[in-house]
Amino acid sequence: MKKHTIVVANWKMNPETPEEAKKIFNGIRLATKRLKNVKVVVCPPFPFLYPLSKLKYPKNLFLGAQNISNEIKGSFTGEVSANMIKNLEAKFVIIGHSERRYPSAGEGESNEVIRKKLQIAFDVGLTPILCVGEKERDNEGAYLAFIKNQIKECLIGLSKKYLLDIIVAYEPIWAIGKSYKNAMSPTDIHEIVLYIRKVLDELFGRNIATGAKVLYGGSVESESALPIMKYGNVDGLLIGHASLKPEQFVEILKESDIKR
Ligand code: 13P
Repeated sequence: MKKHTIVVANWKMNPETPEEAKKIFNGIRLATKRLKNVKVVVCPPFPFLYPLSKLKYPKNLFLGAQNISNEIKGSFTGEVSANMIKNLEAKFVIIGHSERRYPSAGEGESNEVIRKKLQIAFDVGLTPILCVGEKERDNEGAYLAFIKNQIKECLIGLSKKYLLDIIVAYEPIWAIGKSYKNAMSPTDIHEIVLYIRKVLDELFGRNIATGAKVLYGGSVESESALPIMKYGNVDGLLIGHASLKPEQFVEILKESDIKR
C-alpha cells in the first residue's frame, strides 16, 4: 500500500496580514501540486482560514487549524469551535502544542483538556495532530515516562475507531525554535519513534501502534529534512519557522517527496 508522508506547516502567530498569508500560501500551493508522495497541511492563525479557504487546492494540499475549543458551542468568550473551522474547509487541527501546554502567560492546557479536544475533533470529522514532547532530557530516562504519560492521558478513553487514525507529532520542547544544527539527530529521532510505537502498542494494541502516523517537529530546516525523512523512521514532519519562508519550505517538501 502506498504510504503518504505528511508535512504540516505550523505558522504559529504569523504573518500579520491576509496579503502576506496568501503570498506564502501561494508559494506552497504551486510546489505541492508537483509532489507525488506528500500530503501538505497548512495551519495558519484563525483569521486567515477564511481567505485561504477561498483559494484553489491541489488534491494533496489541506488547510488546518492550530487549536480548537474543548467545548462544542455557547458562552465561551474568545474561543473557536471545531465546527467553525470545519465549516471553513479545514480538515486537520493541531492539538496540545507545547506552546499551548506551557504558554508564556496564564494557565496551560492539561492532558485532560487535550483529550477532550481530540474527542471533539474526531466527532466533527477533523483529523487531529496530537503533539507530545518533553521539556528536557535527563540521564535517568524520566523523559520517557513523561512522554508515555502524555500519550496515555491524552488518548485514554477514545474509541478504537478514532485511535486507528491517530497522528502523533513528537516535538521535544528543547529542540523547538533553534537552528537544525541544535535539533535532534535522525538516529535519536528513529529511537524515540520506536519508543512511541511501543507505548501505543502497550496501551492500545498492535493495530493502533502500527497504524499511527508519527511525525517529528523541532527546528526542521531544508538542511535536515532529507536525513530525517530517510533515517528518522518518521511518517512526516511538523515545521514551524521554516514554513513561513516559501523557498525553504518548498525545499523541505521536495526532500520529503521520497517513496517509503
Ligand atoms: P520550529 O520548526 O520553529 O522549531 O517549530 C517547531 C514547532 O513547534 C512546530 O509545531
